[in-house]
Amino acid sequence: MNEFRRLLGHARPYRGRMLLGVVAMAVYAAGNLGQARLVKDIIDGVLVPDPQNVKRIILLLLGTYFIKGIGTYASSFLMTDVGQRVVRDLRTLLFAHILNQSAAFFSKWTSGQLMSRINNDVNQIQSAASETIADLVRESLTVVALAGYLFWLDANLAVICIAVVPLVVYPLVRLGQRVRKTTTRSQEHQEHLSHLASEGFTGHRIVKAFRAEERAVQRFRTAGAALYRTNMRITSAMASLPPLMEMLGGVAAAGALYYAAQKITAGALTPGEFTSFLAASFMMYAPIKKLSRVNAGLQQAIAASERIFTMLDTHTEVTERPGARPLGRVREGVEFRGVGFSYEDRPEAPVLRGVSFSVQAGQVVAIVGHSGAGKTTLVNLIPRFYDVTEGGVFIDGVDIREVTLASLRDQVALVTQETVLFDETIATNIAYGAPSASREEIEAAARAGHAHDFITQLEGGYDARIGERGQRLSGGQRQRLAIARALLTNSPLLILDEATSALDTESEQLVQDALTNLMRNRTTFVIAHRLSTVRNADLIVALDNGAVAEVGSHEALVDRPGGVYARLHAMQMLDDRQEGTAS
Ligand SMILES: Nc1ncnc2c1ncn2[C@@H]1O[C@H](COP(=O)(O)OP(=O)(O)O)[C@@H](O)[C@H]1O
Ligand SMILES: [Mg+2]
Repeated sequence: MNEFRRLLGHARPYRGRMLLGVVAMAVYAAGNLGQARLVKDIIDGVLVPDPQNVKRIILLLLGTYFIKGIGTYASSFLMTDVGQRVVRDLRTLLFAHILNQSAAFFSKWTSGQLMSRINNDVNQIQSAASETIADLVRESLTVVALAGYLFWLDANLAVICIAVVPLVVYPLVRLGQRVRKTTTRSQEHQEHLSHLASEGFTGHRIVKAFRAEERAVQRFRTAGAALYRTNMRITSAMASLPPLMEMLGGVAAAGALYYAAQKITAGALTPGEFTSFLAASFMMYAPIKKLSRVNAGLQQAIAASERIFTMLDTHTEVTERPGARPLGRVREGVEFRGVGFSYEDRPEAPVLRGVSFSVQAGQVVAIVGHSGAGKTTLVNLIPRFYDVTEGGVFIDGVDIREVTLASLRDQVALVTQETVLFDETIATNIAYGAPSASREEIEAAARAGHAHDFITQLEGGYDARIGERGQRLSGGQRQRLAIARALLTNSPLLILDEATSALDTESEQLVQDALTNLMRNRTTFVIAHRLSTVRNADLIVALDNGAVAEVGSHEALVDRPGGVYARLHAMQMLDDRQEGTAS
């Protein structure tokens, strides 16, 4: 019930509308009550003809329909409106919250799963909550009004009819529990489906190249079948409620009829009153049927809310210290001091151990080492994608955990092996880190990034849209856009994580030139496979198994017998020579 209260909390800003909705529902309930009451007049007054009376009753009857109509329309409209607003707010809140999570969070959850939370779970709340809550209030008001009327007419008769209610409550509660559990499972299945679909679509080339379509479809089919079974279990529970209600209603009606027949014979009840009583109890039937589903519907909403609130309560964001100060533009340099790091899932196996080195502002430091040595992990610490587990990273002598995240990340530009482009125009992509940049500035950055020429050849030029993840561009072109983007942010710290390793030699040359422009006047951390970039670095840090094996210039390290860098260098020379002979 906690979840439910929390969900209602999100409706608080719209409580004025909700109140109006409830008023409309009360109007609807009053209309129903009026109709039940009129039946008495119809039987007792119209069947014994009296022209004056007939006109009055007809007008009143029409009036009740009119009032009921307005009440239904207004309450449906207002409650759905509130539901939609709550869902809209929750969805945005969830997206913003998820986007703020740490890198560790995103390596645990797949994007398909997260998308399912935002779409399916939120929609579940929307359909369950806005209708269910409207039904709950509207039909309860009607039932209470009609039940009150029954008691007013004849208390004994009313007791007979209402005696069956406790018999109904127990199965309703039990079914509700089942629906809630099954709903959670259903949402899990949907999440899995969404994950499979997004995996299949993003990896479509690999799927086809390895002729795995049939297997992918089969996996999808199996997951779909599981979802189907779970949903049918919910349907079966939900569908068993109305017949149950109907049966019990029948029993009550039979009892009432038996009792009433005796009272009418004794003259204690007029036929009009009895008919009115019957009409009121029949009119209670539809609301009670709806109410019987309310619990199940609420359980569905609660199950979905639970999943959303769990996500909203997950806090993996890198936290900012209270009173964190903004970091000024880097003037002196960056220092790693005794840095140790292990990933959360394997705290016993540190990925970095005792890493210490420092780089002066404007210098280039190359991080080299075998695959898996911890190079990416090391540079991820600078913008605080992860926090060190030991030691610290200092910029101008200040621990980066002491400064605001925004000011720290403002200083950092990042170019990775896998370029991330958004389905926007070229210009928007270049200006991603500096949205207020003018067209001239964007073009200047593109020129410096050697991207201007190919951009102007595209249909639409800077306003061309580039498709999801930039699929319509070549690897080298994408990389040069990423470089132009980094150039435009004018951030003093630059991280290049294998920015050129996915490229062929020819586009690598262009990208390399663009990178040289980018590195000018910036403190650069570069991870590169090609040693040409590394050779010119001011400092080389050779990592071996998470620890710094060597630090020094190319000249100092290249001839060290048995050195990590010397070995990597020798291997690279061999590679380059082979590539040379091949071309
Ligand atoms: N998100 C992660 N969670 C757990 N372990 C990871 C994660 N990312 C990398 N690792 C592990 O950390 C080690 C170093 O990885 P990485 O820094 O990517 O190496 P490099 O960039 O030098 O190839 C590897 O053993 C890798 O398996
Ligand atoms: Mg790496």
